[in-house]
This record gives sequence, C-alpha cells and structure tokens, in this order.
Amino acid sequence: MSLESPELEIDPLLDDRRTRIVVCCGSGGVGKTTTAAALGVRAAERGRTAVVLTIDPARRLAQSMGLTELDNTPREVAGIDRSAGGSLHAMMLDMKRTFDEVVVQHSDPERARAILENPFYQSLSAGFAGTQEYMAMEKLGQLRAQDAWDLIIVDTPPSRSALDFLDAPKRLGSFLDGRFIKLLMAPAKVGGRAGVKFLNIGMSMMTGTLSKVMGANLLRDIQTFVAAMDTMFGGFRTRADATYRLLQAPGTAFLVVAAPERDALREAAYFVERLADEDMPLAGLVLNRVHGSGAAQLTAERALAAAEALEDAAAEAAEGSAAGPDTGERDVALTEKNPDGRIVDHGAGHADSRQDRPDDAGTAGATDGASDASATTGTERLAAGLLRLHAERMQVVARERRTRDRFVSVHPEVPMVEVTALPGDVHDLEGLRAIGHELAEGPAAA
Ligand SMILES: Nc1ncnc2c1ncn2[C@@H]1O[C@H](COP(=O)(O)OP(=O)(O)OP(=O)(O)O)[C@@H](O)[C@H]1O
Ligand SMILES: [Mg+2]
Repeated sequence: MSLESPELEIDPLLDDRRTRIVVCCGSGGVGKTTTAAALGVRAAERGRTAVVLTIDPARRLAQSMGLTELDNTPREVAGIDRSAGGSLHAMMLDMKRTFDEVVVQHSDPERARAILENPFYQSLSAGFAGTQEYMAMEKLGQLRAQDAWDLIIVDTPPSRSALDFLDAPKRLGSFLDGRFIKLLMAPAKVGGRAGVKFLNIGMSMMTGTLSKVMGANLLRDIQTFVAAMDTMFGGFRTRADATYRLLQAPGTAFLVVAAPERDALREAAYFVERLADEDMPLAGLVLNRVHGSGAAQLTAERALAAAEALEDAAAEAAEGSAAGPDTGERDVALTEKNPDGRIVDHGAGHADSRQDRPDDAGTAGATDGASDASATTGTERLAAGLLRLHAERMQVVARERRTRDRFVSVHPEVPMVEVTALPGDVHDLEGLRAIGHELAEGPAAA
C-alpha cells in the first residue's frame, strides 16, 4: 500500500495571475532545468507572459529554445503556441556578465573599470563557490524589477545540495562585507577562515610572507580592488536581503524537484523543512523520472518464478533433444513452417501465454516432445530473459515507491506530482510539452 499525498496542481498555480515567481530547486541532476523549461512552455501556452531563467541547460535543450548565445538577456522562444495570448522568453545565466553588470550599475565608471580589470575581481567573479547562486538571485531581482513578464520561472544552479541556493547568497553577502576588507588588510590572521577559497593563490601568498613573496604590482592590485569594492559591499548585502524577501513574498512558489532516489528525496525533505523555517512558500514536490510498467499486474516475484520455470523447462528440453536424431533443423521449422504461409513464432506465443499463467510454465516445454525441443529451448530462454527484465523493472518500481513513501510519511502535507522517466532526453519543445502535460495531469502511463 502506498501512502497518499495531496496532489500538486500545476495548472491552477500557473494560471493564477498572483503567481509571479516559480523557483525550481533540488539536488544535482534531478531535472530542475527540464522542469523549469517545461513549466515555461506550459505557462506561456496557457496565456502567461513568461520568462525562464535557465542555468547551464544542456546544449540541445538550449538550442531548442533558441538559446544559442550566452548574452544574458531574455530572447523570445520560437514555436510557442501563442493563441492563448501568452509568450515565452528564455535566457541562460551568464554568471560573470551578471557580476559585471552589478559592478557597473553600482559604481561610477572609473571605479567600475578599476574593479572589472582587477585580477582579483576576475577570479572572484569566475570561480568563487556560491557566485552562481548569488548571481541567479541577482538576475531574478533584475528581471522582476524590469516588470516585462508576469511570470518568472527560475532554474537553480547544479549544486550538490539544494540548500546551497539559499545559503550561498548569505555566505557571499557576509563574505563581501566589512570583514572581508579586514581579512585582506590583515592577512596574517587569515588562517583557517572559510570563504576565502576563491583567493586561494593570492591568499596563500599573503599568509605570512606577504611583502616578500608578493610583487609590488600584486599588492597594488589587491589594494585597488579592496578600495574599489569597498563602496559595493553594503550594496551586495542589501541586494541579497532584498532578493531574499522577494522569495518570501506571496507571489513566489517553490517547487522542489527530486528523483525517486534516497539521496535526492532526503535532500528534498531538508529543503522542505528549510523553506518552512525561512517562511518561503513551498508549492510542492515534483517527483521526476519515476519508472512505471505497462504490465504492472505481473509482479516481480511471479515474473521471476515464471522465468525460472521456463529456464528449467528449456534445460529439460535441451537434454531431451540432445538425445534425439535431427535437432539441427528444428529452429527453422518452428518459425517458418506454417500452413498458410505466415511466419509465426511459436516460441513467443508460448512466452506470452506464460506471462499470464506463470504457474503452468514448468510443465510446458517438456511435453512438446523432443522434436520441437531445440527451438523451444531458444524461445523459452528469450521469454525467460524478458520476464527477468520485467522483474527487474518491477523491483525498481517497488523501490521507488518505498522511497517515495518514506518521504510522504515524513511530510504527508507536501503536495506532489509524479513525472515518468521518458525514454530519451528532453531536448525539444515537444519533449517539454510532454513533461508539462505530466506535471499538470500526472503520469501518462500506468
Ligand atoms: N522525466 C524525464 N524523462 C527523461 N529524461 C529526463 C526527465 N527529466 C529530465 N531528464 C533528463 O535528465 C537530464 C538532467 O536533467 P536536467 O538538466 O533538467 O537536471 P538538473 O537538475 O537541471 O541538473 P543540474 O543539477 O546538473 O542542473 C537531462 O538530460 C534531461 O533531458
Ligand atoms: Mg540544470
């Protein structure tokens, strides 16, 4: 028996004009980008003026949305059905460029140039863990301020942990406040401090033998950088706080995306709790890439039992036919000799009927007599193989269900929708529509 959670109703969420921001978060590789893009397409085709902010989308997915260059501006997505009056824009986050924009926006031209050209700024903007999360929020703030879209769907960076998205801006904010200056100015005290990783080369040089190791140029670089960034530290903090408040606003909905795997769901559970602690509005959980089976009525146990029975029968038949006179021709005979000329594979027929009556399987093959034995052996082995595959699939289904149920037992209040694992990657509008459809209607297949 599986536990029930409330249904996550995607269409009412997308249709509600009060929904202004949807954030798709979750641990690495679970389908955040895919979900965000699929929601964008669906929202637009249902009449919303939507924009999707994607982060590191797979190349083919990006191409299908017309995202061929990383220019940090939303572009209209072609191929969207606009008959409901909506539209879709999409962009890929360019972290470095977003950082540059912030600098330019918040300092005078001379200061901005001094910062942008500084090698320390360049390593900060390109590499510091958390910059991507911070910049995603920054970009979200910008898009919201532009007011050109009535729905912004935000993908989040491929972090190891879903929580990074919420933690990083704060970390970066406190990193870039006054303490940072003190750190730089008093390098001897740096040892062991977290958050200075980005400067790893510079910092290791500074610890201890600063003046000896560093050339005059490098020292000047740091001082200019610090002086130039000085005016912006407060700004970063304020902006991070402002975006944080935006995320708590009633028009925001968080969707936690998870795969039906233990780690992803554990991560999702932490995230759900964290959102509650932060007063951030959770809409629900998207359980993505769930496996189903078209033949779920045949349990793993029965399929395995049938496979074993078939294999036993095949083994017995093989023994019997090994003693017989003309085994060589039998394979051909079984598939080709049919009175009305049709090619019929008797073996497959056997296998089918045995899927329904696995208990009978043990007695079959053996009673066919030695004459059909060799061919039967081949097809029965094949059927047994298929049954084993089916059993494996059913075991996956059962394991996913147990994992899901564990989450539901801890968070029975969280609305949920399941999306099946499609056979291939999702890399075009059709694929995104299929995902969108499942998000709204639940899994297409049983
Ligand atoms: N329901 C699905 N069925 C089949 N493939 C899927 C499904 N959802 C996502 N995928 C595929 O899984 C891969 C990972 O998806 P996606 O890039 O959306 O994950 P992500 O959470 O954004 O990853 P990252 O953490 O790296 O950003 C992609 O190749 C995507 O096409
Ligand atoms: Mg992604």
